[in-house]
Parts: sequence; C-alpha cells; structure tokens
Amino acid sequence: MADLKQIAQKYFAPEHIENIQNFDGRVIVTLIDTPENMAKAEDLKKELLTLEGVEKATVIFTRQKAAPVAPEMEKWQIKGVKHIIGVASGKGGVGKSTTAINLALALANLGQKVAIFDADIYGPSLPTMLSFENTPPVSYDGKTFEPFENYGIKAMSIGSLIDRDTPLIWRGSKACGAIEQMLKETNWGEIDIMVIDMPPGTGDIQLTLSQRLHFDGIVIVSTPQDIALIDAVKGVNMFEKINVKILGLVQNMAYYICPDCGKKAYIFGQNGTKQTAERLGEKFLGDIPLDINIRENADAGTPIVAALPDSEHTKAYENIAQKIIKAL
Ligand SMILES: Nc1ncnc2c1ncn2[C@@H]1O[C@H](COP(=O)(O)OP(=O)(O)OP(=O)(O)O)[C@@H](O)[C@H]1O
Ligand SMILES: [Mg+2]
Repeated sequence: MADLKQIAQKYFAPEHIENIQNFDGRVIVTLIDTPENMAKAEDLKKELLTLEGVEKATVIFTRQKAAPVAPEMEKWQIKGVKHIIGVASGKGGVGKSTTAINLALALANLGQKVAIFDADIYGPSLPTMLSFENTPPVSYDGKTFEPFENYGIKAMSIGSLIDRDTPLIWRGSKACGAIEQMLKETNWGEIDIMVIDMPPGTGDIQLTLSQRLHFDGIVIVSTPQDIALIDAVKGVNMFEKINVKILGLVQNMAYYICPDCGKKAYIFGQNGTKQTAERLGEKFLGDIPLDINIRENADAGTPIVAALPDSEHTKAYENIAQKIIKAL
C-alpha cells in the first residue's frame, strides 16, 4: 500500500492532517482545515481512489477553523444616491458602455432620477457618448465637482480626471483613489439610481470597487459568443464570491436584421447569453440587437434612447430598465 500520509501531504500541510485510517481499503482522512479547501479534498480523494486496494475514500473536516473573516471594507458613502447598480462584463468590447448609457437613459424615461459614472480607466467612453469629451468638470468651490448633465441624467467620468495619454499602469495605481474622490466629491444632488460603467474584466480595480461601493446589484453584459460567455461567467463568479448580487444578464448584439431581406442573422451565435443565465441560475434581462443606429448614435454623443425615443431599441432598453427597477 502506498504511503497515504505522503499522498495527503501533497494536498495539505502536515499540521492540517489529523488522522489517516485504512479499514481494509476504506480510507478515511481527517483534516483540520476550512471548508474553502473542499476542492483540494476532492482532488485528494480522487488520487486515493486510483490506488490499488483503495475501494472507498472519505475526507472529513473536523474542528474546522473559522474561515478567516475578510476585513469588511468600509464602504464609500456617496451623498444623495439611493441605489447603485454596476454594469459589468468579463470581456472588453461587448457593449458594456453602450448598454450602461442607454439603460441609464431608459431608467430616466421611466421617471427615475439617474446618474451615470464611468469607472472604466482602460477606455472611458462616457465623455464621447454624452458629448462632454473636451470639457473639464466645473468646480465652484475648488473642492467639489459639478456633474455633467445631458438628456436629463447626470454624469461623471474617470476620463475627466485621468487622461487617455497616461500610461495604463499609472492609471491603474491611481484609479481607485481617483474614483473614490470623484464619486464622493461630486455634487450629485438627489439621485434614485446611479449606474456605474465598470472596467472590463475581473481584476483588482473591479474587485475593490465591488467591495467599496454599496451595490444593489450588477448587470452583466455579454454577446452570445462562447468566448465572451466564458468571461461573463468569471464575472458572475467574482461578484458572487464577494456577495454582490447579480441582477441579471443582458444579451447584447443578440442578432442582426438584414436591412435588405429583413431576416435575422445570429452573428455571434444564438441565445448563448440566455442559456448561460439559465445554467447559472441568474435572471435573463433581455436582448439588444446589433444595429448600426445603436453604434452611430453612441459614437455621435446621442445615445439611441435619447435620439430615437420611440424606436424598438429604446423599448428593448426600457424593458430591461423596468426589470431593474422591479429588482431594486
Ligand atoms: N447593440 C449594438 N449594436 C451595434 N453596435 C454596438 C452595440 N453595442 C455596442 N456597439 C458598438 O460596439 C463597440 C463597443 O461597444 P462598447 O464601447 O459599449 O463596449 P464596452 O464593452 O464598453 O467596451 P470596453 O471594454 O472597451 O469598455 C462600440 O463601437 C459600440 O458603439
Ligand atoms: Mg466601455
């Protein structure tokens, strides 16, 4: 019989292995460890089962040490803001900012007082989409900023403090401090819902923001494409791990309607996001089609919900906004 202790020590430090017993091929390993290491225990079990003579392997956690409590980070208080929702994606370029701005405008159409904050240090796009690109934020007292205001919503972008020519590493190290300052020191007034356009991915900045901001929930944007979905799942998992609620998934670029024949083309695949939502047990919030009007209006600083209030696409964003309001 192989040295069971040696095998167990491949997975757990000796001081965590309390006891190993072998009852004629039924091996029981007793560990003093935290349940976080359940996955490692599974791996140990699997390896034990490959050994000749081992019929059954059981791993028991005893005297579980309390999981180390992550220091509850002090939340940033943003004056006047009732609810905060994040718009996030695992992958870049899936339409997170376009969705965030149009949802913000749709929420405003439904009677909410709305602000949008662009926390995307990699590619702040709010200044372009709301046409305040070359305008520095105004400060009357030298301490606080006035938010930009356009189409009935208030807005601020990290792009206004950290400019695009600053190297990314430096932007990263300054980002959280700058975001905190901007959020706290902007005169938002009374806001029902603040939408935060998060940076893409699941890195340190996203994590810090999720721990510091009092999120009511996160909207995950993905295209139906596998490669985007893999990252979307990572995003969902990150938020769940730190107990931030997921409001649901939006399927952006769900299909394209051929302007000539009117047929739907599923350029990035059909319903991948919807199926992923179902698989994860998360809500599916709706489809946004791939449409040139959505892109052109975003680039021109007139997001489609503001530019074409009666369009089908505006209705699609309003539908999603309605679900968000309900969830809050
Ligand atoms: N439904 C859509 N139909 C057509 N074009 C779209 C749609 N959604 C987004 N786009 C376009 O796709 C491009 C990327 O979108 P956007 O900037 O919103 O993505 P993002 O996820 O915020 O990207 P990043 O990761 O760079 O922040 C933009 O040019 C945008 O106008
Ligand atoms: Mg963006």
